[in-house]
Amino acid sequence: MPKTLAVVSLKGGVGKTTTCTNLAAYVAAMGVPTLLVDLDVQNGVRFGVGLDTYTGPTLEDVLLHGRRPEEALVPTNRTELAVVLSGRFSDDGALEAYERAFERDVTWLARLLPHLATKDFVPQLVLLDTPAGLGNVTTGAIVAADALILPVQCEPLSLRTLPPMLRRVLHIKAQYNPRLSIEGILLTMYDERQSAAADIVRQAREAFPNGLVFDTVIPRHEELAVSFAVGTPAVTLKTRAAGAQAYIQLGREVIMRLPEDGGDATPG
Ligand SMILES: Nc1ncnc2c1ncn2[C@@H]1O[C@H](COP(=O)(O)OP(=O)(O)OP(=O)(O)O)[C@@H](O)[C@H]1O
Ligand SMILES: [Mg+2]
Repeated sequence: MPKTLAVVSLKGGVGKTTTCTNLAAYVAAMGVPTLLVDLDVQNGVRFGVGLDTYTGPTLEDVLLHGRRPEEALVPTNRTELAVVLSGRFSDDGALEAYERAFERDVTWLARLLPHLATKDFVPQLVLLDTPAGLGNVTTGAIVAADALILPVQCEPLSLRTLPPMLRRVLHIKAQYNPRLSIEGILLTMYDERQSAAADIVRQAREAFPNGLVFDTVIPRHEELAVSFAVGTPAVTLKTRAAGAQAYIQLGREVIMRLPEDGGDATPG
């Protein structure tokens, strides 16, 4: 079975999608078959990995229009990386129907994930990009995940949203997904020019000891925003500036924690 990591946060704009696209691109480049699933109707992944012009089936089509799950797998120019996009949501009410489907059945995604594979592509790592907040779509992702990556922007408000978030996560875990664990709290957009940033790193490590906070801290670096805007994850650029280097380091932390058996997906 693949390992499924959901990237979730209560606060928006903290780097979830940037983390998903860079982590997926790096881990795949290291030879680990990786599936990136965009659950967010904002479609950030579509732009972040340069699939703006893709018109084929999406999660919306699987959920609402009876397409087979494997039809929604979009291969990329990296053989080990496949993507599933959330949808186009062009029909009236499509957004609402998408959200309602997750509300109706919080385990839908968990049951769907094993079917997002083909005979040529069986993921070893699945990354779920989620919308900000703890709505039904994100709840579905938490129910489907083995572990969570919790990005926290290095500023006070973002850190304060962590305890209520963790309480809700514990509730979902108890109700639906007892095997769920925390992969790590990821400190993002660290800006050394802001005096509060170092305090946030210290406070997070004090409040959540025992390796719960990733060693890697993601700096605020323009290259991450620019590469996102042009649809190429920064980790794949030759320049490899500080932001990309940090995501490479994070990728190594994540690969180290993959199951030893290499995620053998043989049924049974
Ligand atoms: N480390 C970083 N340095 C500089 N810019 C960043 C960094 N991480 C993300 N950004 C930029 O900040 C914005 C928000 O990032 P991103 O979309 O990854 O956050 P998000 O948590 O997915 O947002 P949302 O909650 O809306 O889905 C984007 O414009 C992105 O390019
Ligand atoms: Mg996002």
